[in-house]
Amino acid sequence: MKAVRLHAYGGIDNLHYEETDDPQLKSSHDAIVRLKAASVNHHDVSVRRGIGPAAAHLPHILGSDGAGTIAEIGAEVSNVSPGDAVCLYPASSCRRCEFCNAQREHLCSQRRLLGERESGTYAEYVSVSASNCYPIPQGLSFEEAAAFPLVYTTAWRMLINDAQLKPGESVLILGIGGGIATAAFQIAASIGAHIIVTSSSEDKLAMANKLGAEHGINYQTADVAKEVRNLTDKRGVDVVVDCVGGDGWVKSFAALAKGGRLVTCGATAGASPQTDLRRVFWNHLRVFGSMVGTREEFRQVLDFMAVACTKPILDQIFSLKDTASAHQRMEAGQQFGKMVLSMDG
Ligand SMILES: NC(=O)c1ccc[n+]([C@@H]2O[C@H](COP(=O)([O-])OP(=O)(O)OC[C@H]3O[C@@H](n4cnc5c(N)ncnc54)[C@H](OP(=O)(O)O)[C@@H]3O)[C@@H](O)[C@H]2O)c1
Ligand SMILES: [Zn+2]
Repeated sequence: MKAVRLHAYGGIDNLHYEETDDPQLKSSHDAIVRLKAASVNHHDVSVRRGIGPAAAHLPHILGSDGAGTIAEIGAEVSNVSPGDAVCLYPASSCRRCEFCNAQREHLCSQRRLLGERESGTYAEYVSVSASNCYPIPQGLSFEEAAAFPLVYTTAWRMLINDAQLKPGESVLILGIGGGIATAAFQIAASIGAHIIVTSSSEDKLAMANKLGAEHGINYQTADVAKEVRNLTDKRGVDVVVDCVGGDGWVKSFAALAKGGRLVTCGATAGASPQTDLRRVFWNHLRVFGSMVGTREEFRQVLDFMAVACTKPILDQIFSLKDTASAHQRMEAGQQFGKMVLSMDG
């Protein structure tokens, strides 16, 4: 099969589009998926750079998100059949420990994303546990079905189950160009929250405005916390989605209203930012950290996509052989929404 394989940790030039062996079923519970599309996540860039979990071996196939059709199933698989169109739940866990048994598999010490240790979705075929294969929500193309799983399941967990964002509450979403940010935006908009976004790009602020953001703040030219205070009559917002960290982290706390909630799942701009702890306890703030969502949360997302007829925001579709260009675009922070890799192109 054709795949994009990482030959050494580091720069984009270590990604090679090449011929490699087709994957084999590893157990009677597995399925081989013939992928039609995969999507690029910032996490792939981190794994490529050697930040985070190491692959079982190099060359390695990155990619946590994918959609396609079932090509082959193991003897004990009953939830899918060859030919079924599926999208993939991107995480796995041991399924035996106290957390897995209590449907709290996000706390499992063996928790992994597809494409971290095992081969991922930047390929024409991938071998996964059949239990990670789910029917594609009605109305979504393969490209859309590959774009939403990781970012939506993470954003859903953060906003709905952790922060419990309610209709009429206000939310500040940092760096609206990102995949997590656009997913959070669509979820927050669908439940009727007031949305303020930040971006480094006036064009992206304008796009978010068209989609229903009430205010946009350019974080490169304005003091985000000060602007939020101005826009909310000094009150602050109920929820901040901050997957960026770095120097802006302290501003995220300063932008929260009393009793506000901050959700985080990433540290794109730095993992050791400052926090004024007094602000946290003075204002009864809560902070939620998240790593993807559970299978139950993924199921909730699938229902949400189908019932709300929501489609993820796609930035660009690249052909698999142009994966390096997609990584380049992500590193330059040029995207608005998700970049997808098509196996057909
Ligand atoms: N824990 C998990 O389960 C999980 C799951 C998915 C992602 N993540 C993490 O979450 C983060 C976002 O992932 P993603 O896939 O959405 O990434 P992405 O698509 O690459 O997001 C990039 C966006 O981040 C924004 N950004 C960068 N620096 C910023 C800064 N200093 N201040 C404000 N915004 C800034 C930019 O927005 P503008 O272009 O609008 O300026 C940029 O477009 C990554 O760190 C990723 O590893 C974690
Ligand atoms: Zn476990």
